[in-house]
Amino acid sequence: MKINKNYQNIEETYLFSEIAERVRKYMAENHGASLIKMGIGDVTRPLSKSAVDALIKAAEEMGTAEGFHGYGPEQGYEFLRDEIADYYQRTSGVKIFSDEIFVSDGAKSDLGNILDIFDVDNVVAVTDPVYPVYVDTNVMAGRKIVKLSATAENGFLPMPDPDLQADIIYLCSPNNPTGAAYDKDRLQQWVDFANAHGSVILYDAAYESFISDPDIPRTIFAIEGARSCAIEFCSLSKTAGFTGTRCGYTIVPGGLVRDGIQLRKMWLRRQTTKFNGVSYPVQRAAAAVLKDQGLAEIMENVAYYKENARIMAETFSELKWPFTGGKNSPYLWVKCPNEMRSWAFFDDLLVRANVICTPGSGFGDCGEGYVRFTSFNTRDNTIEAMKRIREIYG
Ligand code: MLT
Repeated sequence: MKINKNYQNIEETYLFSEIAERVRKYMAENHGASLIKMGIGDVTRPLSKSAVDALIKAAEEMGTAEGFHGYGPEQGYEFLRDEIADYYQRTSGVKIFSDEIFVSDGAKSDLGNILDIFDVDNVVAVTDPVYPVYVDTNVMAGRKIVKLSATAENGFLPMPDPDLQADIIYLCSPNNPTGAAYDKDRLQQWVDFANAHGSVILYDAAYESFISDPDIPRTIFAIEGARSCAIEFCSLSKTAGFTGTRCGYTIVPGGLVRDGIQLRKMWLRRQTTKFNGVSYPVQRAAAAVLKDQGLAEIMENVAYYKENARIMAETFSELKWPFTGGKNSPYLWVKCPNEMRSWAFFDDLLVRANVICTPGSGFGDCGEGYVRFTSFNTRDNTIEAMKRIREIYG
C-alpha cells in the first residue's frame, strides 16, 4: 500500500502544537512560573447566560420521549439557519437564503473540507503570513500554492496583480494573523478579479464581530458580485466563546457556478455523505446567542476583548514597537524589537516576561521578525502582561 506522500511536504507539527510543546517543556523546568498566554486565539470569557440556558433546556428536552432528537439535518436545523440568515440581514443588510447556509463544527474544518469539491490541479493563492490551515490542507492534497506577500508596505493587505494566476483564493478579513482588514473598495477589487478570472474566493470571516469601522464589510456578500465568486466561512468561536462548544457555518451562494455546476449542490452532496451535523443542544445554543438578548450578551464579551486590545496597543505605542491590528480584530501583529527574529523574541518573552505570543515566522516567511499577540486573555492578565513587557523592554 502507499501512503499520502504529500504529508512529507508539511511541517512535522502544527504551529500551535509546536508552541504548546515548547511551553510544556519550559514549565517542566520552571515549576510555578506564572505564564500569561497570548498565543493561540482561545477565549477566556465564559459562555453567555443565553447560551447556557439553551444548552440546559435542549439537554433536558433530549431526555424526554417527545423532545428527543436523533440524527439531525446534515445542513443544520432550520431554526439555526433562519437565525443566521437574520443575523446577516440585521448586521449587514445582506440577504442570504436558508438553503445556502451549512452549519458546521467550526470554520477550521470547513476551510479544509471544502477542498473536496475542487480539482487537485487548481492553483491556490494565499497571503503570506497566513493562517496555516489554508496552506497545510492544500499541501496535503498536492495542490500548487502561490503566496502573496503581506508586508508593512502594502498595509498587510495584498491586492490582485493582473498577472496573478489563481483558481482558489483565500482571503481572511479581519486577518489572522495580522489583524489588518480589507475595506469595501479593496474587497471589491478582489471580487472583480475573481469574477473576471473564474476564480473562487474562500473568505474566512471568523473575526467579523470585531469590526467597528463602518468602511470594513463584515461579510464578503456585502460586495457587489460576490455571490458569483465567493464562499464564506464563519464561526461562533471568537464571537460567542464557542472554541470548546464548536459551531460555525459556511455560506455557499446559489449563484456560484463553475463548470456548469452549482457549488452549493456539490457541498450539500459532500456534507450529506461525510458529515452528520452538529449536536442539537449546540445548535440551540448557537441560535440563542444570535437572538437580540443573546447577541447583546456576546457583544459585551467582544467589547471586553477589544478593550484588552486597546490596552495592548497603548503599550506597544509607548514602546514604539510598530504594530498593526487590534482595532477591528482581536490580534495585534507586532514588529520584534532590536531586529530580533520571531522565535528568538518568542523565547525571550517566555523566559524574561513569562508571556506567550505566537512567532510570526510560523505563519510564513513574510512573518519573520514579527510576533502575534491575542487580546483574548482576562483583563487582569492583559494588564499584568503589558506591565511586565514595559518593565523589561521599556
Ligand atoms: C489562532 O490562534 O490562530 C486560532 O485560534 C486558531 C484557530 O482558530 O484554529
